[in-house]
Amino acid sequence: MTDSSKTATLTIDGKSFDLPLLSPTAGPDVIDIRKLYAEAGVFTYDPGYTSTASCDSTITYIDGAKGELLHRGYPIDQLAEKSHYLEVCYLLLYGELPKASDLEAFEATITRHTMIHEQMHNFFRGFRRDAHPMATMVGVVGAMSAFYHDSTDISDPRQREIASHRMIAKMPTIAAMAYKYSIGQPFVYPRNDLDYASNFLHMCFAVPAEQYEVDPILSRAMDRIFILHADHEQNASTSTVRLASSSGANPFACIAAGIACLWGPAHGGANQACLEMLKEIGSVERIPEFIARAKDKDDPFRLMGFGHRVYKNVDPRAKVMKQSADEVLDLLGIENNPVLQVAKELEKQALDDPYFADKKLFPNVDFYSGIILEAMGFPTSMFTPIFALSRTVGWISQWKEQLSDPAHKIGRPRQLYLGETARDYIDVEDR
Ligand code: CMC
Repeated sequence: MTDSSKTATLTIDGKSFDLPLLSPTAGPDVIDIRKLYAEAGVFTYDPGYTSTASCDSTITYIDGAKGELLHRGYPIDQLAEKSHYLEVCYLLLYGELPKASDLEAFEATITRHTMIHEQMHNFFRGFRRDAHPMATMVGVVGAMSAFYHDSTDISDPRQREIASHRMIAKMPTIAAMAYKYSIGQPFVYPRNDLDYASNFLHMCFAVPAEQYEVDPILSRAMDRIFILHADHEQNASTSTVRLASSSGANPFACIAAGIACLWGPAHGGANQACLEMLKEIGSVERIPEFIARAKDKDDPFRLMGFGHRVYKNVDPRAKVMKQSADEVLDLLGIENNPVLQVAKELEKQALDDPYFADKKLFPNVDFYSGIILEAMGFPTSMFTPIFALSRTVGWISQWKEQLSDPAHKIGRPRQLYLGETARDYIDVEDR
């Protein structure tokens, strides 16, 4: 990784400091400032981490200018087309595509961990019925550390492995239970004869009173949505998981922290916000009004599902998602879906507008996903929980990578302090 022939020189008040440049396998070089404070007595300032690499990683690579996303080197569009979610999970976790026997063993392990501790059902029942499923998920996933004591010792590689498998396996069960609870229907137990995506659909849409057949079209579309959300390098929720984990916190607590971060509308909450926005726009005629609002500096409104910190080109996940939206609606026989029409026209008009072109704002993964999820029968409140369950493998893979690095240490950013300097306490009667 280090290329000792290259250094960056920082000069402060005429004094120079040589900083090593680290060369990645892909992407821009990175200035190693780890010894900067010790040697030069200064910090760097980068709120929002726009220019900071917080760790090294071998899992996911994004070229934002090209619009490229690779998992362990494999392009996302190839994985979405040719692979399936549990194979992508294996790839993210272990670094290579599995041989057939390894995949079979992995799938069997995940399948055998899908039930949750029966006592957790009582925990669910403590929530208000109208709780957002993300609120329920943050609580329930955090509570897993109270139920699975035998996989919270992070110093034991076997316990880390079991915790990883448990979370990938149980997250669909938890998300489906959060949904069932919110609509007042009985929980549906997982079925081990179904594949990962079909089992999730079954747990969401089956009722004990009648037989539910999983539609293979929906199952494939669901699986593809899982793949497209599986990992995205050091985004806000993944960085949250890594920061939580850096203190030695147990894996369930760390993933709960990631879910909490994902919930926000600037991150995973954008899929719900985007579909709500498309519905609010309602018709193609009203698009210019909303584009004008998005461009107005005095209006906080933003086009949801548009723009990205890293992509300054089309988000490759959005390309697959758009194609998938067309396919799914077509296969389900949904013609002239008005929301899809608004979405496509909005994309077209925004891309033709100099404001969006100049700022390099393109549709992101959340722009079309809600349309597919709604066509499948999910309410908007379930969109972000589905993102969370898909991203769990990414969080877990990054967590595992962090813990297996012997040099990892607690994350502890510094600050640019702009408050009062030391002053003497004043008694209350003298203020
Ligand atoms: N609509 C209108 N203007 C926008 C938008 C948008 N969606 N996104 C960015 N801008 C403008 C912003 O006003 C700013 O303009 P100026 O330079 O004149 O102040 C410029 O573009 C740069 O924006 P920024 O907020 O500094 O960029 P960022 O990298 O900090 O934020 C973002 C990235 C994704 C939070 C932002 O683009 C956004 O709020 N998008 C809408 C929410 C969304 O779709 N989020 C999902 C992201 S992808 C999935 C995920 O991460 O979970």
